[in-house]
Amino acid sequence: MKVDVLLGLQWGDEGKGKIVDVLTPHYDIIARFQGGPNAGHTLEVDGQKIVLNTIPSGIFREGKINLIGNGVIIDPVILLYKEIAQISKLVDVKSRLYISKKSHLILPTHRLMDYVNENVRGAAKIGSTLKGIGPTYTDKIARNGVRMGDVLEPNFKEKYEALKQQHLDRIKSMGFDEAALQLDGSPWREYEHRWFQALEELKTYHLVNSEYFLNDALAQGKKVLAEGAQGSLLDIDFGSYPFVTSSNTITAGVCSGLGIAPHKVGKVYGIFKAYCTRVGAGPFPTELDNEIGETMRQLGHEFGATTGRSRRCGWLDLPMLRYSCMLNGVTDLIMMKGDVLNGFEKLMVCTDYKLADGTITREIPFDFMTKVTPIYKEMQGWHADINANNIPKLFMDYKDFVEQYIQTPICMISYGPDRNETIEIEHK
Ligand code: GDP
Ligand code: IMO
Ligand code: MG
Repeated sequence: MKVDVLLGLQWGDEGKGKIVDVLTPHYDIIARFQGGPNAGHTLEVDGQKIVLNTIPSGIFREGKINLIGNGVIIDPVILLYKEIAQISKLVDVKSRLYISKKSHLILPTHRLMDYVNENVRGAAKIGSTLKGIGPTYTDKIARNGVRMGDVLEPNFKEKYEALKQQHLDRIKSMGFDEAALQLDGSPWREYEHRWFQALEELKTYHLVNSEYFLNDALAQGKKVLAEGAQGSLLDIDFGSYPFVTSSNTITAGVCSGLGIAPHKVGKVYGIFKAYCTRVGAGPFPTELDNEIGETMRQLGHEFGATTGRSRRCGWLDLPMLRYSCMLNGVTDLIMMKGDVLNGFEKLMVCTDYKLADGTITREIPFDFMTKVTPIYKEMQGWHADINANNIPKLFMDYKDFVEQYIQTPICMISYGPDRNETIEIEHK
């Protein structure tokens, strides 16, 4: 058996949560392989909107296992008191959720470090979600991190205190008074108290050697879907660096983030919006900082699921989509939110970039698009609502154009936030 993958091809928020929920009935295990609570994956279950940050989006389907892999980083307070608390009336999370012992913990002081680092960057700030992502992955790579499995060891508190002290020293040296810093509106030491309480409870969950767990499951013929967080253009290596997140969001991250050998990767579902959005700072060539962008934002409810920030909106960028498909080996495309474009008179699709020296190219330049001018193909908009019984011809033209440009089939179209607002497309 192979591991199929579903991941975002743009700057995140493509609709991964919804589609993982839709695909889950075909799988036995859903596994997150990277990122942390910077992610906000929205699902609509029986008309109720739910946002998951760390828990895989298969959690609502009966009889499925949801695994938080070694590549994920966990904030116990968010996982227990926000996510599990939110859904525990709907599902028995404990029986369905497995956590890798090798996943790293986001300490309260990682979150403080994130705040302090962003503050020091001033105008050059990344626009981080301030969930401690950068500092936690930094400590992982620097071999200082604290892992979920450490919680079960007698020297856990010592390890924790040593790392915390390093952070506090650093915060002080950067000119900040730690005693004045807050997390979630309270003094951070109160957060620290809840953090330990949450960890005590999480100790009673299934903490596993997830690499064996998954490979054994595959050997037994179980089907696994790996769920990406963020998007390929936020990848630490290939995204719009430094305006990126701190993990490998691309297919390669599945191997290191779950312990899966490359030849065991099967289908790669690449998911994209029919337009583009970005939250936080960084280059965005097709951005519409005008009324059209505002219309997209309002119609698409483009406000961050994790931070509530306004998402920047713009036209679909095909050179970028092509780049993401190349990096990920996408086998099947999924197009989201076409309904948001219903009623637009004209639609522009970026097909090429013009560089400062006049060169026309489809290749993303090293400095990631800061100096490119998009070249657009104008397409006619459709004046109808998309639904399972009515797919306007002009919408199909838009879809066909993308497919031909990328040379990859679009296997599914989503036209609303609900599970059922999805159309599968057969390809011969
Ligand atoms: P994720 O991070 O990739 O899981 O995406 P988010 O949940 O952050 O953002 C996607 C948003 O679009 C959520 O509010 C979804 O409920 C919503 N959504 C998903 N698919 C569609 C769709 O096809 N049409 C519309 N209008 N909304 C959608
Ligand atoms: P999902 O999984 C959209 C962005 C942040 C910021 C940059 C770095 O819901 O698609 P970080 O907190 O990781 O240090 O922030 O990355 N970002 C996201 N944008 N969707 C996400 O996740 C994101 N996770 C991080 O806004 O620009
Ligand atoms: Mg999101």
